[in-house]
Amino acid sequence: MSGCYLALEGVEGAGKSTVAGAVAARLRAEGREVVEVREPGGTPLGEEIRRLLLHADDMAPWAEAMLFAAQRAQLVAEVVGPALARGAWVVSDRSYYSSLAYQGDARGLGVEAVRQVNEWAVGSVVPDLVVVLDFDPDRGLARQGDVDRIGGQGPDFQRRVAAAYHRLAAAEPSRVVVVPVDADPDVLAERIVELAEARCG
Ligand code: TMP
Repeated sequence: MSGCYLALEGVEGAGKSTVAGAVAARLRAEGREVVEVREPGGTPLGEEIRRLLLHADDMAPWAEAMLFAAQRAQLVAEVVGPALARGAWVVSDRSYYSSLAYQGDARGLGVEAVRQVNEWAVGSVVPDLVVVLDFDPDRGLARQGDVDRIGGQGPDFQRRVAAAYHRLAAAEPSRVVVVPVDADPDVLAERIVELAEARCG
């Protein structure tokens, strides 16, 4: 039995966390073992790195990209890799595709350069399916509660992130799928589970 690594992506305020919870609940109801994680975070070290990433006063763009990759290396080693190895499904709120969109594209570090750093961090443990929840970035920002350092970059940055996700989906259509946020979380979760089961079985 092999597991499945499903990642949810999107701009701030797209509703990823709620949909991720609904997806996990639906998979559990089918009798699957499900491990839910979030990035940045998901391990004790990763949660410390998250605090730095979201609340430090100043951070150079490559320091930011490297810290995202570092928390991801820990998450993959400690949680995601072992879960997949025992046949569990992993539902992740963000993944290395966030780094490609935010640091690689929107911040301008270069998608391929950021991909390379992340390949060192995660090796072959990459999501089987990446679902981008497509939501208007301006509405997403308006919906945001606590604004963190990256969420506070403003509307132009969020629009660049949204466009970046569309480019990533166009470049990797078999792995990255855009799903419009046009229904409630349970309906979206049903569609996403169908996509994941088609991909992973
Ligand atoms: P969250 O709001 O989904 O918890 O994510 C935290 C913030 O970190 C959000 O603004 C997106 C950003 N982020 C990146 O810039 N690069 C990454 O690789 C990840 C995982 C998140």
